[in-house]
Amino acid sequence: MDSAPRHIAITMDGNGRWAAARGLPRSAGHKAGLTPVRLCVEECSRLGVEALTLFAFSSENWSRPAEEVASLMGLFFEAVEREIAELHRQQVRVRFIGNRQRLSVRLRAQIAAAERHTADNAGLKLQVAVSYGGRWDIVQAARRLAAQCASGALRPTDIDEDRFAAALELGGLPDADLLIRTGGERRISNFLLWNIAYAELYFSDRLWPDFGKEELADALEFFAGRERRFGLTTGQAMKARGP
Ligand code: IPE
Ligand code: IPE
Ligand code: MG
Repeated sequence: MDSAPRHIAITMDGNGRWAAARGLPRSAGHKAGLTPVRLCVEECSRLGVEALTLFAFSSENWSRPAEEVASLMGLFFEAVEREIAELHRQQVRVRFIGNRQRLSVRLRAQIAAAERHTADNAGLKLQVAVSYGGRWDIVQAARRLAAQCASGALRPTDIDEDRFAAALELGGLPDADLLIRTGGERRISNFLLWNIAYAELYFSDRLWPDFGKEELADALEFFAGRERRFGLTTGQAMKARGP
């Protein structure tokens, strides 16, 4: 059955425009973006979705004005501090993906603590991408494998798609089935590259802070209506899915 996605990825875009439309600073838009995060986590948990991966801050976003970067980092810290108990109560397992070296020691410690605190939870697997780039992810996976080859633990011919996927930040999770992007842009912006090879793409013109239950339901309805063929013909794909 492929009518429900196992893994949903969301590029949460449009916070700045949401704030500008209200004459507010961009940081107010980022703050307002927390409401749909809570909602999506709750809905995905309720629906039994296995994994949810949220794009919160890209490797390219470091080049934004220092003031905006600082306010986002502050917001991440506060959000983790404020939300972790509730996430734990919901049995959510939280992990962060991205280049941690660029985060402050304080934020690094905070997210590591959140990961430890929720590590054994059996509910929704929530990944938050902060300081994340799809190309960076692929490069660091290549480095890990190269180091194993250099030490003699691995032969280059042992590297196949499964082993490569396992070395990525989302190693161990199923590929993203559905990628949602809000804010009207129809691009990937260096989010998960490897893991979206066969994702269905859903673009919403809604700005992220306005993304609600109805919009998520629309995205899921869109997904349920797709015929996922993975390169096969319609006839083959129908057979592979079974009666
Ligand atoms: C997405 O909203 C959040 C981040 C990239 C951190 P934006 O801040 O990109 O909002 P817009 O696209 O400028 O409206
Ligand atoms: C993508 O949004 C990154 C996140 C939502 C975290 P951007 O606003 O940075 O993307 P571009 O610059 O429009 O491609
Ligand atoms: Mg944007």
